[in-house]
Amino acid sequence: MNFQWYPGHMMKAKRMMQENMKLIDLVIELTDARIPLSSRNPDIDELGRNKARLVLLNKSDLADDRCSDAWVEYFCRTGCSAVKVNSKKGGGIKSIQTAIQDACREKFERDRKRGILNRPVRAMVVGIPNVGKSTFINALAGKACAKTGNKPGVTKGKQWIRLNKNVELLDTPGILWPKFEDQEVGLRLAFIGSIRDDILNSEELAIEFIRFMKERYFGILSGKYGIDESGDLYSCLRSIAESRHCLSRGSELDTEKAAGILLDDFRNGRLGRLTLEYPPQM
Ligand code: G4P
Repeated sequence: MNFQWYPGHMMKAKRMMQENMKLIDLVIELTDARIPLSSRNPDIDELGRNKARLVLLNKSDLADDRCSDAWVEYFCRTGCSAVKVNSKKGGGIKSIQTAIQDACREKFERDRKRGILNRPVRAMVVGIPNVGKSTFINALAGKACAKTGNKPGVTKGKQWIRLNKNVELLDTPGILWPKFEDQEVGLRLAFIGSIRDDILNSEELAIEFIRFMKERYFGILSGKYGIDESGDLYSCLRSIAESRHCLSRGSELDTEKAAGILLDDFRNGRLGRLTLEYPPQM
């Protein structure tokens, strides 16, 4: 399978990011809790050099909680603050303010030494497409927030959302481009639906997903679809098609439809809370 993110898009995203970095103190980086490494772009370490860093494991409602705790520990050890969140339902959002203060402790200390008091932290949300940036900003900002900047008659500038007297958030998130160099990374991104399905072969993807499930979560597919999981990968997909009555032209098994059902069930949490990659200490 061949995944594409056009170099033109990438350069534009990078340029925007570099410009916005000059304006902020804190990078709030969203990752997908099911694939916390594959959903990052390691270039953020270079782009966000000298900035305070907060890593969020978003969509933690879909991930294995024990793994998410281990990932929080992992990121903390690399010098970032980290928090599990569910932006859709608001879980973990309350702890963000404290996490922001924690992540910016050194900045506050520097300001204090220079005699600067009460300067709000300026933050930007970044992440790859579909990781939940807009949902998170809405959950964090809620309705009560006031927008600042871009007032009529004033030179067009950036829009900042004032979260409280201590924190201002850039209202447009920074888009990071996914890194597909490693085939495994590309596959995991495709599993969670971060790559448009119409450019992928869904049956091939489902076969790879079944391979993964048999290796890491043996028993879940048989529990969900009542199939015998011990057969080869394609026969598992056929069994899912049978169990879900996916038929085409009257009586032939429609494995493409079954592939769609399987991936959709996973993406919507109907196979349970699953994490696709583990931190090194696990
Ligand atoms: P982006 O700005 O980073 O591109 O992502 P966006 O906020 O648009 O979110 C992408 C999808 O992820 C949305 O689903 C959104 O609802 C979902 N999402 C965001 N945060 C969470 C979370 O913490 N948990 C879960 N389960 N889902 C989350 P969608 O299918 O595009 O829309 P809809 O399902 O909300 O209608």
